[in-house]
Amino acid sequence: MSHAVDQNLDVNEPKLTDHSYDGIQEYDNPMPGWWVWLFVGTVVFSAVYWLYFETGVPERSIFDQYTAHQTQVMTQRFGELGGDLTPNADTLVKYSSDPKEAKWLAVGKSTYQANCASCHGIDGGGGIGPNLTDDHWKNVRNIEDIATVIKNGANNGAMPAWGTRFNHPNVLVLTSAYIASMRGTKPSNPKAPEGSVIGPWAAAPAAPASTSPSAN
Ligand code: HEC
Repeated sequence: MSHAVDQNLDVNEPKLTDHSYDGIQEYDNPMPGWWVWLFVGTVVFSAVYWLYFETGVPERSIFDQYTAHQTQVMTQRFGELGGDLTPNADTLVKYSSDPKEAKWLAVGKSTYQANCASCHGIDGGGGIGPNLTDDHWKNVRNIEDIATVIKNGANNGAMPAWGTRFNHPNVLVLTSAYIASMRGTKPSNPKAPEGSVIGPWAAAPAAPASTSPSAN
């Protein structure tokens, strides 16, 4: 064991770099070439990746691709319906209550759970937004008003306007139907009623009387 560092004593002794900071010396031990090149490769790749995906060219970002794909899948699925749905009373009553349409109502349910449950509760019991399961409503008199509220929002954006933010227009209709279907269910933690009591959901009258102000 030698006390002084002497580079010339042993050829197998690791080499030292020739600088010394506060008497501290460094071994001259570079990373292996393959490692350095791998590292350089990741840096170059990240720049190319960033330029390709993150500079705002439409339809390239993962999000745009996902949205486009979703729309495509939706359109394909909705093809079975043979035409787009309109949020009128007949359609909403049908999709909210007909067990044969349950698979379509499920589209409304998953949309609700992803976008609305944060404010209205997972079971519609209410939270920031009103309880959607009771007979009291603030902005809704007829079943088709549900779609109008969702589309346009309410109370200066306290209820956000969803407009065309859904992947497909049918999603608005099916989400409205799902809201209608929650009425009368028993949420675990219901918020106190807000607004006034309205009549049961009803399909449009078979022959709308021209004297009735509420017809359509
Ligand atoms: C940021 C919170 C928030 C989100 C998210 C939200 N809402 Fe609302 N919603 C509200 C508030 C607040 C009101 C009450 C507005 C008012 O006071 O008139 C409301 C009202 C409503 C009403 C009318 C209730 C009534 O009594 O008139 C419906 C229907 C509704 N929301 C459906 C939805 C649907 C469907 C979604 C998801 C697509 C959604 N909301 C997402 C906050 C929210």
